[in-house]
Amino acid sequence: MSKVEVLLEEERTFYPPKEIVENSNVKQWMDAHDIPDIETLYQRSKDTEWFWGEVEKDLVEWYSPYDKVLDSSDAPFYRWFTNGKYNIVHDALDRHMGTPTEHKVAYIFESEQGNVTELTYRDLYNEVNRMANGLKSLGVGKSDRVALYMPMIPALPIAMLACARIGAVHSVVFSGYSPHALQDRIQDSGAKVLITADGFWRKGKVINLKALADEAVKGTDIEHTICYQWAQVEVSMSERDIWWHDLVAEQPDECETQVMDSEDPLFILYTSGTTGKPKGVVHAHTYSVGVALTLKWVFDLKPRDVWWCAADIGWITGHSYIVYGPLMLGVTSVLYEGAPAHPEPNRLWEMIARHGITVLYTSPTSIRMHMRFGDEWTQKDDMSSLRLLGTVGEPINPEAWIWYYENIGKSRCPIMDTWWQTETGSFVISPLPILPLKPGSATRPLPGFGAEVHDHEGKSVVNEGGSLVLTSPWPSMLHTLYNEPERYVEHYWTKSGDFISGDIARVDNDGYFWVQGRGDDVLNVSGHRIGNSEVESALVSHSSVSEAAVVGRPDDIKGEGIAAFVVLKMGVEPGDELMKILWNHVGEEIGKIARPDIIYFVDDLPKTRSGKIMRRVVRSVLVSKEVGDISTLANPEAVKEIEDAVKHNN
Ligand code: PRX
Repeated sequence: MSKVEVLLEEERTFYPPKEIVENSNVKQWMDAHDIPDIETLYQRSKDTEWFWGEVEKDLVEWYSPYDKVLDSSDAPFYRWFTNGKYNIVHDALDRHMGTPTEHKVAYIFESEQGNVTELTYRDLYNEVNRMANGLKSLGVGKSDRVALYMPMIPALPIAMLACARIGAVHSVVFSGYSPHALQDRIQDSGAKVLITADGFWRKGKVINLKALADEAVKGTDIEHTICYQWAQVEVSMSERDIWWHDLVAEQPDECETQVMDSEDPLFILYTSGTTGKPKGVVHAHTYSVGVALTLKWVFDLKPRDVWWCAADIGWITGHSYIVYGPLMLGVTSVLYEGAPAHPEPNRLWEMIARHGITVLYTSPTSIRMHMRFGDEWTQKDDMSSLRLLGTVGEPINPEAWIWYYENIGKSRCPIMDTWWQTETGSFVISPLPILPLKPGSATRPLPGFGAEVHDHEGKSVVNEGGSLVLTSPWPSMLHTLYNEPERYVEHYWTKSGDFISGDIARVDNDGYFWVQGRGDDVLNVSGHRIGNSEVESALVSHSSVSEAAVVGRPDDIKGEGIAAFVVLKMGVEPGDELMKILWNHVGEEIGKIARPDIIYFVDDLPKTRSGKIMRRVVRSVLVSKEVGDISTLANPEAVKEIEDAVKHNN
């Protein structure tokens, strides 16, 4: 990797209100442990055994205690809380029974059409147990994989918790993914049961999810599809299909929680990598410790808070901060089925006012979209209940940060810009509500976490762009890649034992991190990771395409958009119609989010002498940068092809 340019210089600093600092959970913990200031906390938390051993006491309950906080003897297969007996569902549900939390609202659920239902912790407990018993009756047990392809309705967390309760491993596939993508993930995980729904609402239309699921299960080993009736659309039910309500009808609402080992897997979540094959990131039950701590300290959640993480449960953000984290802390969360600006651009703001939401966590893409609607849409609703804000998924540009701060937080609410990944399971670099903020920086690694920026020789650098690595293991870390332990070792770990995030970042003189984006061949579209090669494979799988190069292009709203350069097979004519066909084809192969924003037809693509397509060169031409060294190209004339195509279409 050559030296990375540092583009962003942001000087403004924002201090959190005194009353937030004084009452914050992190400050209270510091006081209780005689830690006088944040620097001391950062220092003392480097003692892994002490720090994580101390914090877990407030967060989790064990069936039987662990021996050691961390065993690094088989690194990078780190073992946390060795030999402890545990199940995350005990902390999320069981331990609240018989306490005041039992009758507290766990989820305020709002459908896109505006119907609101409330589920208490007791309701959730009963529903989870019934479903857990239902799954058992189908022969699902410990370590079996269950695929979930569901909308944002309470049945989704219920299904996840039901799996976890009986020791089964859930693999949630985002409901916007295509049947093809679902099928790949079912096959890779070897799931034998799929849970889905008849359909759901998105922007006023019903999506017939069961029909997509039916297509996906063809040719897989799925023995049963469980279908939750939600949108009341007509579906076809085969012999192996079963309605959720029929499955649970006769089931008792008690189900014993399976006692698990600390290291036992809780879920697999697939994420895009640099090759076409998605990576099955495996998290264990004890990932709970990192998730609960980060939520409690960063978003400072208190019993009276109404928390809204406006992400989809199909991604890691929803797993950790809609399902497991908030339930462990016993807070009330908002769960919303639909689109963020439907039917009017102020849907989010109006929901904040109606539900008295106190902490909102969303994405830079969503913020930029709302900026475009105009400030007047943020002035219609009373958002005075808010006290903290957050963002995740992509770098937030200072302009969007300031807009969010002023228009939504009314200059009162600190913004927690949390940097993390599917692999990290929880926030890693993030502000605490007691820290000064700089717009566009996720600030510093949280206590108990370590990060550095390394140059291409692996040396730690300051004020210089480089590769973002994590320098110490953490409890919510991925444990392996499903069925691919070698890929886990090779892809993520340097020889000297640092975790490679794949991102490019810079650390400033105050130790604040400025994440610039991916440094590998992975796109980040609206905060969603999509491998360049995944889109290329989808394009090449069409009968008219011979080769494709897919690169990112700057996008005002999405952060990054997708540009595809396509070489057609001999005799195939380019044109608008074919463009539309290919665009749809990618949507069918992967999902709508992966459809290219623009497709260029070219006769050749720049390649190395060994035939590898040089995406770097293609991207440089596209964003009108210097092309750089092309001496290693086998066909330098292809660069001209790309230049002409771009010029012609702009
Ligand atoms: O590039 C970083 C970006 O999102 C990637 C992780 O994507 P995913 O595994 O899908 O998880 C998204 C939700 C945690 C990272 O490698 N990213 C995430 N948060 C930030 C970010 N980039 C800059 N700032 C952030 N706060």
